[in-house]
Amino acid sequence: MKTFERLSDWVSLRQELKQHNRTIGFVPTMGALHEGHISLVNQAKKENDFTFVSIFVNPTQFNSKEDLEKYPRSITEDISLLNAAGVDAILLPNENEIYEDNFRFKITENKFSKILCGAYRPDHFDGVLTVVMKLLGIAQADRCYMGEKDFQQYLLIKDMRESFFLKTKIISCPTIRESSGLAMSSRNERLSTENKVKAAIIYKYLHEKKTVADVRQSLEDSGFKVEYVEEIYGRRFVAAWLENVRLIDNVKI
Ligand code: PAF
Repeated sequence: MKTFERLSDWVSLRQELKQHNRTIGFVPTMGALHEGHISLVNQAKKENDFTFVSIFVNPTQFNSKEDLEKYPRSITEDISLLNAAGVDAILLPNENEIYEDNFRFKITENKFSKILCGAYRPDHFDGVLTVVMKLLGIAQADRCYMGEKDFQQYLLIKDMRESFFLKTKIISCPTIRESSGLAMSSRNERLSTENKVKAAIIYKYLHEKKTVADVRQSLEDSGFKVEYVEEIYGRRFVAAWLENVRLIDNVKI
């Protein structure tokens, strides 16, 4: 597995791959990897000749310095996980190279990014879309893999691809869950053992309860601070806080 920090080193290899007509599958991540990320890697490996992963904790998508600082980081473990998963190359870019323009240019979506998570995390999706646009430009991959746990993010990136005539196909992959039903997320690492068990109720209620109002009430009764429970695009979405950890999930209805 090759590891790059400088963009130009990756670009040389990318050009070589293109000359040999090898397809590239790309998985963008912010590290603190878990089985959910590995399922994206496995899908990329199945469908492409070469699997490329980026690890970059993107500062522009965090709403506070504190949240950015608290975001879990486990780079050594991440590298060994990716190596074991059979990834071909990883990019660990530095902030100066990614944001050489000091965020002078950014991508703003003015509709779907303003609801659900966007209503509670102002400018979050500007940061996500901007960094993904940059990473897609760097990777020049044939396919890019995104998890359905972040379904709103996936839809926005898929629409951005169409709006800007990008060539990389955006592929969604199912949410990977703990045996309890809890959606795997890097943020789960910040939950206590007790609250990790409790957090599994989210998935249970998303399925079991008849209305969004019932889901909200039941979560509040269980001690969650609920941001939203909404149904849109044939899915039921939730965001709720537990022990200062923000959890999101969604299911098809
Ligand atoms: O889902 C994530 O990990 C991030 O939002 C992404 C897509 C890597 C952009 O920073």
